[in-house]
Order: sequence, then C-alpha cells, then structure tokens
Amino acid sequence: MHPRIRTIEDYHAAYKQAAEAPDAFWAEVAEPFTWRRKWTSVRGGAFSPEGQSTWYDGARLNITENCLDRHLATRGNKLALIFEPNDSKTRHVRYTYRELHQHVCQFANVLLNNGVEKGDRVVIYMPMIPQLAMAVLACARIGAVHSVVFAGFSSTAIADRVNDAGAEFVLTADGLNRGPKQIPVKSVVDDALQSCPGVRRVIVVEHLGWPVHMQEGRDVWYHNEAENASTTCTAEEMAAEDPLFILYTSGSTGKPKGVVHTQAGYMVWADYTFRNVFQVEENDVYWCTADIGWVTGHTYGLYGPLLAGSTTLLFEGVPTFPDAGRFWQVIDKHYVTIFYTAPTAIRSLMAAPLDHVLSYSLSSLRVLGSVGEPINAEAWHWYHQHVGKGRCPVVDTWWQTETGGIMISALAGVTPSKPAHAGLPLPGVQPVLLNQDGTEIEGNNEEGYLAIKGSWPGIIRTTWGDHERARQTYFTPYPGYYFTGDGARRDADGLYRIIGRVDDVINVSGHRFGTAEIENAINQNQFVIESAVVGYPHDVKGQGIYAYVILEGALPASHAEAQVIEASIIETVVAEIGKIAKPDKIQLVSGLPKTRSGKIMRRILRKVAEGETSSLGDTTTLLDPAIVDEILAGKK
Ligand code: WTA
Repeated sequence: MHPRIRTIEDYHAAYKQAAEAPDAFWAEVAEPFTWRRKWTSVRGGAFSPEGQSTWYDGARLNITENCLDRHLATRGNKLALIFEPNDSKTRHVRYTYRELHQHVCQFANVLLNNGVEKGDRVVIYMPMIPQLAMAVLACARIGAVHSVVFAGFSSTAIADRVNDAGAEFVLTADGLNRGPKQIPVKSVVDDALQSCPGVRRVIVVEHLGWPVHMQEGRDVWYHNEAENASTTCTAEEMAAEDPLFILYTSGSTGKPKGVVHTQAGYMVWADYTFRNVFQVEENDVYWCTADIGWVTGHTYGLYGPLLAGSTTLLFEGVPTFPDAGRFWQVIDKHYVTIFYTAPTAIRSLMAAPLDHVLSYSLSSLRVLGSVGEPINAEAWHWYHQHVGKGRCPVVDTWWQTETGGIMISALAGVTPSKPAHAGLPLPGVQPVLLNQDGTEIEGNNEEGYLAIKGSWPGIIRTTWGDHERARQTYFTPYPGYYFTGDGARRDADGLYRIIGRVDDVINVSGHRFGTAEIENAINQNQFVIESAVVGYPHDVKGQGIYAYVILEGALPASHAEAQVIEASIIETVVAEIGKIAKPDKIQLVSGLPKTRSGKIMRRILRKVAEGETSSLGDTTTLLDPAIVDEILAGKK
C-alpha cells in the first residue's frame, strides 16, 4: 500500500510533496490499486470556473474489484461486514470477504437479469441491512449509477430524485425497523412511483416478512430472482471518469441537487483518507454509525473500509433503543476499535444518565471520530473522557457530500487534535480563508469564507443533468477556488475551526437542508401564503428549524386553532420531505420583514430565532418596520 503517514514529520513531508509535485504524489498513492489499464494523465480538465476536473483520465477499472476481488487471496476469510440488527436480541450476521464477494456478484446478476445496463441509474431506498451494501456494490459491479435515498425521506422526495436521475430501476425492501417502530418502506415507494412513469422494475428485498403490494409486471422479490442467479459476475470495465454514483444534497437554492462522483478519483480519495485519518491497522473493527443514505455512509461505511480491506460494522438501529447504552453495548460485543459518529448522537447520549456508558468497558476502542457538524467543546470532552476513557484520539473530520471524503481533520494520534477544531488539512488539500471580495486572508488568528484552492481526487464532478448549477454554485463565486459555503477560523497554530454555513443552508442533526427547500414544502400547505425558515441553536440537534409563516386570511383567533394549523403545516413538511425536516418552532405572523425591493431580511429573523433580540441592527430600510415588533412579541 501507499506510504502511510505515521508521524508528524511524514505529514509535513507528504503535505509538501502533494503541494509541489501533485502528479507524482497522486500517482504513487494510486499505484497499489487494481487497474485494468493505467491512466494517461493524473490530473486534468478545466478546474475553475468551468468546474470540471479529471483524475486518472484514461484509466480503466472497477471499484468493486478493488473493494472485494483484490482482497480474496489474502483476506478471503477475513470479516468484511458485521451486521448488527435493530433489536439487540436478534442475532448478528457476519460476512467474510469471500462471502460478500459472492453476494455482491449474485445481486449484480439479478440486476443484469432484470435489464439493468451500464450507465443506467438505480435508485436504492432501503433499510440499513447487508442487502443495502450489496445492492450498492452490485450497481458498481455492472457499471450502473447508484443513487441511494435515505429511507427516512418521503415519497415526494423519492419521486423527485427518481425523476431527476431518470432512474428506471428501484431497489427497496418490504419494511424497516427503527428502534421500537416498524416502517412500511415498500408502500412509501409505491406512493412515490405513482409520479414516476419511467420506472420499469422494482426489486424488493424481504426483511420484515410483511405482506406488500406487488405490482404485476413491475415488482419482483429479490429472493425469487436470486434463486437461479450465479454467485460469480465479471466486473464491468469502467473509465476513470464514468459516474459511480449520484447523491442528492441540499443547497441554498431550489431543489436538492444530484452530486456526481466518478470511479477512479473517488476510489483513491476514499481509501487514502480512510487509512490516514483513522490510522487503520489490519485487525481493526471499524464502525461508522452513518446511514448509507448519506455521503458518510457511502465513503466511510462502505467504500473506504472495503477498499482498505477492513472489517466494517453496519447497524440497523438507533442510539437510544432499547436504551441509551446501545452504542456502547455494540462496541463491547464486537470489539469495535474505531468508532465514527455525529455530534448530535453524542449530545443526545450525554443527556442520558452516565451509567449507560459507564457500565460498558469500551476497552477495545482505539480511535474516535466525529462528522457532519461542528462538535462543541462540551460534547468533545464527554466523548474523549467517557467513551475514549481519555486514551483515544478524537478526529473531528470536516468534509462535504461534494468533497467525496475528509478534507480537514486530525490524523489520529499523528497531527494535533484540539476540541471544537477540525485541525490541519490532509496532504493534497489547500484550504484558504477568503474575504467577501474573494481575496485570500493571510496569516493565523483569522476568520473568513472557507474555500479550497485547486482540485483533489474526490472533488464533485458535476450536478446531475445540470452542469451549469455546479459551476455557478461551487466554481464561479471565487474563480480559482472551490467554494464550500462554510465559514472558518484559523487559530494561532494554523488549525481550522469550522464555524458553520455562511449560505442559506442549515444543518439539523448533521443533515443538510436548504431553507428555501423547507419553505417550498411549507408553502404547499393549504393555509399558507408565504414562509421564511431560519436555523437557531439547538442543544441536541446543533441547529433547529424555526419557521415564520404567513397564513391565508387572518391570524387564528384561538390557541387551539393555531395548534391545528401548525400540526397541518408539520404534516405537509413530513409529506414533502420527511420527518427529519420537521420545523421545531412555527410562528404564525401577519407579515415578514422585507426591504423595499421585497427581499426578506433573514438577518432579523435569525436574530429573533436565536433570542438575540437586543441587537437587531438597522431596521429603518424595512418596508414595514412595525412588523418586527409583532414578530418579537410572538417569539416562540
Ligand atoms: C458541516 C457531511 C463542522 C459543514 C460529511 C459542511 C461540519 C456540511 C463537519 C456538509 C465538521 C461537516 N465540523 N462542520 N467536522 N463536517 N460539517 O454534505 O457545514 O452532509 O458544509 O457532508 O456539514 O454536510 P454533508
């Protein structure tokens, strides 16, 4: 394998080499993979403002050969996947690399037999079960483009994604377990597909054993299809820049966009970042709690660990079922050595009695990771002290769906780890802080817009079906840079601290939403004329969703009437997006603070929601300054 960065000296040397001789550096990193044909150029394409990078162009490969086949000779009997079910009393299931290889091949043959071809888009809406991992890899095996939709999204959200991706195939299950609840997944898909005339085939995995409606000619059971499907399947040879997957994520405007990652660059980036950040060893048992429906689940639940030949744990359940000790019980049960989770989970478990964590030994743990949102110092210390027992380095990993993998983070035990700071950039990543006018801010103890100079192997290639959107969003705001949408601070030692989004994106429990996206959902409600959504600090979720809503007609006359309307608004949001986007607070208002040109002054709405009402700033430019008093008086 490529040289691992084990010491701070290695880090500085690698950083220097990646900056000064990137082609040589990235060629060396890519060397150990299985290539059907080597690249003709390491880096290419017009980066910015065109927004098109290429990596390892000319190369031919299949990522699943690198995740599976490559390991068979030396790790065939090593555990690839451990599945821990929702219910702690249900037995876990384990797959060696050889077994996983067979299952993936079989699933790939089922796809082929059902007419899926190279380049076709396949939407996957499944619980966190082994068949989800197999489905994703099966797509990659035959060169189909997977687009996983988190199984908490609503049928409307599924339909939007299926139609945007032009997917003709959907893979799903009968139902899923989430803590004490069971959810009928297939019927959500059925609702969605009423608006997706292009879908030809739905393949359903049996999980709960629930009766489901099967549409004649369209729906088939996976287990029936698998009966005669072979467990060997030749991997399709892919070009380096063929799309590997589409993953929808929210931006500051419009509907969620389909972030596209390609074969070779994503593979190299997933493996390189995984090994170095977590300082992975051969016998590690690694657990990333993120659902495969999010990018963290893609890169660090699935591809990264399998590329590295590690053992990865997949958990169907939730942190608090049957009680707030479940994570710790699972760690002890499977001797997990590397644990990667989100601050929101840590904060929710901190709120439970400490006994839940103290009653487990957690002595197998070696490295702890955090991802998805800023981790506050209190949660960091609790994690370090009570979970890591003060002996495990904590890596606070900053990255985005668009970056494919980790960009700024401590390398466990190698580079400095400081509470609430992501730390130093990985070798190959050149972060900068920009002023509003786009000039670089030099020196330390500075704050600005976080952007990345130049390209890296895992960079977003395009937004599906709309390259212009990718160009406008990421590459034209500050030519020469990839713009992240985050604000950051560089401390006296050059460590980065991520402050949060500087655009109209909010981060709720580590999930990204555009405020416009939630407003559009609210505006679908029959009572609503207009709305404005902002984030506000929330103890567990990081940010909560605060919605100001203008109703058709007069404000409700009674509290009871208001409650009915608010419940109806919440129902609409759940139907349009999903439960994860439910507003935490709804304030019914008769107007919104607008400038004379009709622009909503979100700054004021944000301050009110944050409770910082003494510093509202200049409101004289408002069309109707009196509305601010009404909003203040009715604050939730
Ligand atoms: C935020 C998740 C602070 C950030 C991998 C980013 C973080 C957005 C961190 C991307 C972190 C992610 N510290 N903030 N360690 N990690 N973020 O696309 O605002 O779901 O822009 O990717 O999450 O969210 P996404």
